[in-house]
Parts: sequence; structure tokens; C-alpha cells
Amino acid sequence: MAEGADGEESGCDVQTFDVIVLGAGAAGMMAAIRAGRRGRRVVVLDHARAPGEKIRISGGGRCNFTNIHAGPKNYLSANPHFARSALARYTPQDFLALVEAHGIAWHEKTLGQLFCDTSAKDIITMLLKEMKASGVVLKLGVTVDAVSNGAGGFVVETSEGRMTTESLVVATGGKSIPKMGATGFAYRIAAQFGLEMVEPRPGLVPLTLDPAMLEELAPMAGVAVDAEVRHGKTGFREAVLVTHRGLSGPSILQISSYWREGDEIAVRVLPEIDLADVLKAAKRDNGRQAVQTVLAQHLPKRLAQYFAEKHRLERPLADTADKALDALARQMSDWRIKPAGSEGYRTAEVTLGGVDTAGLDQKTMAAKSVPGLYFIGECVDVTGWLGGYNFQWAWASGHAAGENA
Ligand code: FDA
Repeated sequence: MAEGADGEESGCDVQTFDVIVLGAGAAGMMAAIRAGRRGRRVVVLDHARAPGEKIRISGGGRCNFTNIHAGPKNYLSANPHFARSALARYTPQDFLALVEAHGIAWHEKTLGQLFCDTSAKDIITMLLKEMKASGVVLKLGVTVDAVSNGAGGFVVETSEGRMTTESLVVATGGKSIPKMGATGFAYRIAAQFGLEMVEPRPGLVPLTLDPAMLEELAPMAGVAVDAEVRHGKTGFREAVLVTHRGLSGPSILQISSYWREGDEIAVRVLPEIDLADVLKAAKRDNGRQAVQTVLAQHLPKRLAQYFAEKHRLERPLADTADKALDALARQMSDWRIKPAGSEGYRTAEVTLGGVDTAGLDQKTMAAKSVPGLYFIGECVDVTGWLGGYNFQWAWASGHAAGENA
């Protein structure tokens, strides 16, 4: 048990715990549940007025709470093997078993993505019930002013007074969506205790375009199309959405985590068809059709018009050389776009980078150089793809720390 040595000496009213968890998000609540189940005296502190706010808004209000295919390959990290251990010891099936034990109805939407049938709030309620059953104390609206450590453990100075603990679990997330209370606080604690950082960056974020390109694409704002989007060797095939600021949609959000400023992305429109063959066959069958008409059989009309006009292919197919059709098909299967930037933390679903995994034990999430200090969830340099992978990391890393803290 931790002793509140400083507080006892000075006669202050010190609250003593075995485990203090900073952050009542997905990772923090899971860690608290597991530690509480082990008989540890646990308190979770959060500056927000409600727990699990990101869970509440996730997955369009239905929380894409895991992905049944989640494995290390679905995560970005300077050490791609780091997540393996925690992910293997707390799997999507483990979380699903918990969801089912609470009678929460769920469904698979696509690509292994599991969602609540009714509301993301069901997941928060489930976690709160589990915390209560594990004897965890939850304190909301509490600010953490300072953290220090000494022989007896950690001292946490809060707006509710001094608290001491043997184990301190940092689960305060990344910098994404500052409007919702994201602070980057975990990075400050990591720096204070001498841990290295991997530069944080917005991830799963819409990409912006320069004014000329925006003007060119403006008539297509709101248009979505199935496409494969590539950056180097990495590619994702889902929808791309043209917006008033640039490009969004699942394919773009996925690739944004790999993209770097100044790089191009390559968009393959209509990845499942050989467009050159389709256009030439249409020319043979009915040469009076316009290119745009054929494209519009496979694409939203405004996009079909855009490509036809951009290539000045406005005459009937019969009057259009095969070479020109080949060039159009080539361009549409390798449409190079150089984003100007991203929408940044304001809309990013996650923060890439964070506490360098080199300083953490992959089995327990404990800092190798500071006994009793743990980092879990989004603040760690492990970032999942879109599709339930980030919550699975939060559950798995939270579970790993909770079993040890
Ligand atoms: P999280 O950010 O959830 O929790 C951190 C907690 O710490 C918060 O409660 C915060 O208030 C608190 N905190 C921060 N600073 C503090 C301080 N200084 N003092 C005290 N408390 C502090 N993922 C997924 O898998 N499926 C999905 O459907 C979605 N959908 C989605 C939608 C949107 C709009 C966003 C922004 C994100 C998603 N995500 C997602 C990503 C997912 O929400 C994210 O990866 C997890 O919430 C991370 O969990 P953590 O517990 O690590 O941090």
C-alpha cells in the first residue's frame, strides 16, 4: 500500500490509494476496472464533467468499439511490434464477451467493425458499472496541478487536495479535439520523468487543398466515390469525399496517418474496373455516346463531368482517339494530388506519435525507468487505423496496465 508520507507529516488531509488513474477515457476506465478487480484501491481522476466523452461521440454516436481483425499490422508506431503483447492478451473477443455479458446489442458494419445497435452510451454505462463493481472511485471535474515521486510512491496535487499512490497510470489521451478537453498532459508528465517522445501529429484527419485545387474541385463538394488511395506502398480502399476544405472520407482519413507535408497521394478511381477497356468497348458498341455518359454509369455525374472536361473529351466517343481514352483511364487510376495540409487537431480523430514505446514495458505498459508509472491508450506512440482499432488499443493497453499497477 502507498503511504502518504509527506501529507501525514504535515498533517494535511491526504487521500491514499494504491492506483491513481489520470483520465476517465476508454483506456483509463479499463485499467481501473482491472486493477480494482485485483483488490487494489483505485481512484480515477478526470478534469471533464463526464467520463468517456470520446466514447460518447464515437462511431457517429454508436461507438465502433472494436475490430475483430485487430492485430499489430493495423497500428502505426516507431516500434511496430510493441503493441503485439497487449493486443494478444486482451483481444477483440475479450471485449465483445464483456459487451455481451452486459446485454448490449451490437452488429458488424463492414470490414470487421463492431458497433452498438443503440448508442455509444451503452459502452460508457457498462464501464461505469464495471468500475463500481470493482470498487473504483471516480472523481470528475478534478484538475491535476502537479505530480512528483519519492520513496513511498507518487504524490498528486489536485484541486481536491493531495493524493498519494504506489502506481500512477497516465491515460489522458492525445491532443485531438481540444474542444473536448484534450490537453497533451500525458506528454508533459512523460517529459517530467525523462521519457522520450515521438513527435505528436494529427492522424485520421481530413486533408486540405490549395486554393487553385479547391476551386477546381468546388463543384464536387459533397460528392463521395469509392476509390483506392495510396501513399507509397500503403493503400486503403473505401470512400473518398470531396469537401469545401479538401478531401475526407474513410480512405483519406486512413491515408492521412501515413501522409507527410509536401507528399503526394495517389487516388485510383473505380479500382475494380479496367476503365480503358470499358471506354473502348463503349466506343465500339455506341460511338455516339459522350465519354462523360459512359463515366457516369460508374461514377457520380459531377465527377464524370469533371474528368471528361479536364481531359477535354467532350466529343462523342467515335471522334475520340483510343490514345486519349487510354490517357484518361491512366490518369483516373493514378490521380496525383498534393494536399496543402490537414485540418489539424481540431478534427483529427487521433494523435499519432506520443510517449516513445522504447521507454515502456510492452507487457505492462510501465515506464522502464520509473517504477510504478504507466502510460496507456492514445498518449502512447501506438495509433490504429480507422475502424475500431483505436478503442481496441485503449482496452488492451488499459488491461495490461490494470493487471500490473
Ligand atoms: P481519451 O481521449 O478517450 O480519454 C482521455 C481522458 O483524459 C479524457 O476523459 C480527458 O477529459 C482526460 N484528460 C485529458 N487531460 C487531462 C488532464 N490534464 N487532467 C485530467 N484529465 C484529463 N476510435 C475507435 O476505435 N472507434 C471509433 O468509433 C472512434 N470514433 C472516434 C470519433 C471521434 C470524433 C474521435 C475524436 C475519436 C474517435 N476514435 C474512435 C478514437 C478514440 O476515441 C480514441 O482513440 C480513444 O478515445 C483514446 O482513448 P484514451 O482513453 O487513450 O483517451
